[in-house]
Amino acid sequence: MEMSLDVYLRKHLFANSKPLSTKLDIIEQIIEQVGIGIHSLHSKELAHRDLKEANILVSGSNKLFICLCDFDFVNDNLTTSLSIVGTPKYLPPEMISQGILLKKNSTKIDIWCFGIIIFRILCELLGIDCFSDCPEEILVEDDIRLGRAKDSEQLRQYLDKKLSTSELLINYTLGEGRRITRFIELTRQLLEYQYEKRPNASTLIELIQTP
Ligand SMILES: Nc1ncnc2c1ncn2[C@@H]1O[C@H](COP(=O)(O)OP(=O)(O)O)[C@@H](O)[C@H]1O
Ligand SMILES: [Mg+2]
Repeated sequence: MEMSLDVYLRKHLFANSKPLSTKLDIIEQIIEQVGIGIHSLHSKELAHRDLKEANILVSGSNKLFICLCDFDFVNDNLTTSLSIVGTPKYLPPEMISQGILLKKNSTKIDIWCFGIIIFRILCELLGIDCFSDCPEEILVEDDIRLGRAKDSEQLRQYLDKKLSTSELLINYTLGEGRRITRFIELTRQLLEYQYEKRPNASTLIELIQTP
């Protein structure tokens, strides 16, 4: 049965007693297939602009079939003005600070959102509370918005604190630890504060496929 990724994660990943290695296999499939979806969209000069778990559909059991959905905000990189759309938690820094984004960079929004998706999955998997020890600047009511960090340095410090591997990985085997470290590293790269430096979809695919 087809369901959105948020529902899938709740039902089949987080509240489930599957072995960690199976959970990591699932996360790997999610990252790979969402990455391919983003690449396919971007290769057509299109940006989704509202990527989040609720706008991703999952079907299948062992082998997952994952696709992007809800193309209400899709904007091609060539046409006229871009307004702010999307979902607060997922907004990248350039949308928060500059408001309207240069059209040619709108695909970088999706890369940031993908980083947020993986960050949230990792926090949930590793039992990290996203909301604790959070600088005031990036907390809006109950909502953490990493894109509101003052600068790259503040964001990096925050991510390092949340995902510092040495403390987290103590309970895992070497193989599991290595896989989790890869996901964490990918998250750090996608949540690049400056959109000019954020990977594009081709680099994203390379990062995902690098063993
Ligand atoms: N084919 C589908 N199968 C299962 N659930 C779906 C399907 N399409 C949409 N949904 C669910 O409906 C929700 C809303 O659909 P979406 O296309 O994202 O429209 P909206 O513009 O209202 O966000 C999705 O978040 C997802 O949970
Ligand atoms: Mg939707």
